[in-house]
Amino acid sequence: MESGATMSDSGENQSDVENRSDRSDSLQYRCIVPPKIDPSGLDFLDMTGEYLLCLMHSQNIPEDASYGWSLRGGRMKSSLAIPPLTKDLAQVLIDADSIQRRVDELARQINQDYADCTGTLILVGVLKGSFIFTADLCRKLTVPHVVDFIALSSYGKTGDQQSANVRLLMDTRENMEDRHVLIIEDILDSGNTLDYLIRNFKTRRPASVKTAVLLDKPDRRVVPVHIDYVGFEIPDVWVVGYGLDYAERYRTLPYIAEMYPVK
Ligand code: XMP
Ligand code: MG
Repeated sequence: MESGATMSDSGENQSDVENRSDRSDSLQYRCIVPPKIDPSGLDFLDMTGEYLLCLMHSQNIPEDASYGWSLRGGRMKSSLAIPPLTKDLAQVLIDADSIQRRVDELARQINQDYADCTGTLILVGVLKGSFIFTADLCRKLTVPHVVDFIALSSYGKTGDQQSANVRLLMDTRENMEDRHVLIIEDILDSGNTLDYLIRNFKTRRPASVKTAVLLDKPDRRVVPVHIDYVGFEIPDVWVVGYGLDYAERYRTLPYIAEMYPVK
């Protein structure tokens, strides 16, 4: 859509608009451009027939632009700077602010639990899906730690298909003997991956092995796995964003979104 070509003030008042902006379950906001704002400073995408706002240049909003659907003192609320959903994505399941709040809570718990441990904790992020979760979590840890990664693959995996055959693609670098290890995984589904990892790491004679998982799909479990830190339980739907992908797409979305089932 040509920038600014069809935008208009819908006549809604500020509180209507603010109420709508708090709904994390729907991103189909209609776009209201205050007249003082040069629409060329904003990027708009029209992907669904509704207007979806994708804020790219909030610094272009003048200080005195005191009305509009999400203007606060001339600035967009950061949580509203949301990339629009594409036709593949059904809804936002967990918004960016909720993820950050939960990561804070998990970090606080981990800091407490490892406070009296001697030595440096080894964080092992499971690539690729956990790279963002690992990056956010480790920066909130106050206990001494090092960051390591491991890459696994499920044999025969294509798109969103999972398989019980877990294969090691890239091993960790740290020596785990007598050290505390915390595995950081994006999502727990059948349990095969974590079950494989926990068994594998235990053969390396660590002081302890614990697990932190951002998302848990309990309905999908095939192998029981003990999880020490869980971000959110979610239903049995395919999710993307915050590191998670569908065929390598959507990893860098700041929120977790549910995909429409792939036909
Ligand atoms: P298992 O079945 O071994 O699966 O517990 C864990 C791995 O499966 C991937 N997985 C997903 N990836 N959206 C994704 O992007 C999902 O909804 C999803 N469910 C499972 C993921 O790689 C995880 O490490
Ligand atoms: Mg993973």
